[in-house]
Amino acid sequence: MLAIARAPARSAKAVGAYYTPEPVVRSLVSWAVHRQTDRMLDPACGDGRFLVCHANSVGVEQDPDACTTVYARTHGRLIHQGEFFSWAERTQERFDCAAGNPPFIRYQRFSGATRDAALRLCRRHGAAFSALTSSWGPFLVATAALLRRGGRMAFVVPAEIGHAPYAAPLLEFMMNSFAGVQLVAIREKFFSELSEDCWLLYAQGFGEQCDGISLSLTDRFDPCTKPPAATLVATRSDLEKWSGRVRPFLLPSTAREAYRHIADSQHSIRLGDVARVRIGYVTGANDFFHLRPSQARRLQIPRRLLHPAVRNGKCLAGRSVDTHRVRAWMEADEPILLLRLRDATKLPEAVRDYLDTEQGQQARQTYKCRNRKPWYVVPDVTVPDGFLSYMSGEGPRLVENAAGCVCTNSVHALRLTNGMAMSRLVELWATPLTRLSCEIEGHPLGGGMLKVEPREAARIVLADRARDTAWQREIFCDALTTMKRWRHYGG
Ligand SMILES: C[S@@+](CC[C@H](N)C(=O)[O-])C[C@H]1O[C@@H](n2cnc3c(N)ncnc32)[C@H](O)[C@@H]1O
Repeated sequence: MLAIARAPARSAKAVGAYYTPEPVVRSLVSWAVHRQTDRMLDPACGDGRFLVCHANSVGVEQDPDACTTVYARTHGRLIHQGEFFSWAERTQERFDCAAGNPPFIRYQRFSGATRDAALRLCRRHGAAFSALTSSWGPFLVATAALLRRGGRMAFVVPAEIGHAPYAAPLLEFMMNSFAGVQLVAIREKFFSELSEDCWLLYAQGFGEQCDGISLSLTDRFDPCTKPPAATLVATRSDLEKWSGRVRPFLLPSTAREAYRHIADSQHSIRLGDVARVRIGYVTGANDFFHLRPSQARRLQIPRRLLHPAVRNGKCLAGRSVDTHRVRAWMEADEPILLLRLRDATKLPEAVRDYLDTEQGQQARQTYKCRNRKPWYVVPDVTVPDGFLSYMSGEGPRLVENAAGCVCTNSVHALRLTNGMAMSRLVELWATPLTRLSCEIEGHPLGGGMLKVEPREAARIVLADRARDTAWQREIFCDALTTMKRWRHYGG
């Protein structure tokens, strides 16, 4: 066992340590390895379960406890104990094939020297990841770069390879580096402990190029020595049309074509053409800054400093948030009154007293409050024309703001920019094409939820009832069901 550096014991989530089920391990190794003499790499070998399937294999792992397990179960096979990217930068070793399951560590934790080494290495090999990338993409690029010409790799990948912005440079790199690249999209989970779905990635013929990603769609993982036959090939130009995403290819071709026909027409409108979508305000201490009507009365906070707020997506039922709705919230004594202080001067005594309470002392210690001056003025509070829920099972709701409310960052604030009436926008939002567009432009979040970021919302296509036919509407409704099934919502 070669020791590079000792990694402290950390939680499974922090280091992306979720070990792969044995049938998946055996399937990937049996495809990647052609001959007994093939030298195989697992760049993040965990407890060594990929390595035990093939005698001529080499593992890298930073967790010393896992390395001890691997060493014992592989009877002295070569394990490089330490950080993969710094090893990959230095090693002269080259491999016939690679198999494994890269750690899935989000950018907030994939940081410091490890990320710097990873991004530097990837750039050198032509894959330009941004600093917001998760670890798994750079792991795959750095692994591919250690293959001999003609080499193969077979890996478990998070299903976000179908939609994450950092999947695009990875897919581009794979097409520029391999004669064939195949993704197997698997609908049912095969990692019970993960909320994220996983797919499989196979690539062969390192050192050549191909013009597309072959895709197989399957309901469940079945042990196999080769991937299921591809159902389609998403070419580079196909991918370009779908913002570089593979996920829309989960739809039948009739639905994709019908959608593109409308989305690409000169009459097509996107939400970003008629509205600006922004996140709502961030208080840093929601419970402190939002008061119940009874609490505001008791504290004698002046009414002019309190503003009714939409606190979360649950408030967005129906077509509009109107004065009746706000009155109902007030009567139910909901904590919906934002303490909206605009500057440091002339604070009434009642407000000063509230800021000095124990809750106020705690609130001012939160990260957001500590980093603004004065701590009690919540920035970016505006009264938008409408609200968009951005995390939901059924799909995002778009609702008119008919009561002059403000909103927290649990919903998006929507400002009309191009003269379209809000009531018209709400009407268009309910059409099957637009609801399908939310699925295509948004992304699954696990647990059946769909999330729509502001930049994704801007791309959502607004259907015009006059322009789609009954036949198209039926296709879009079926397609909507398909996309929801893939994100485990509604059976
Ligand atoms: C998803 S697990 C996969 C383990 C094994 N290949 C499997 O599939 O069962 C990822 C492993 O990567 C290791 N790891 C995370 N970051 C690493 C790094 N920068 N260098 C080396 N190993 C790392 C973790 O300790 C963890 O054991």
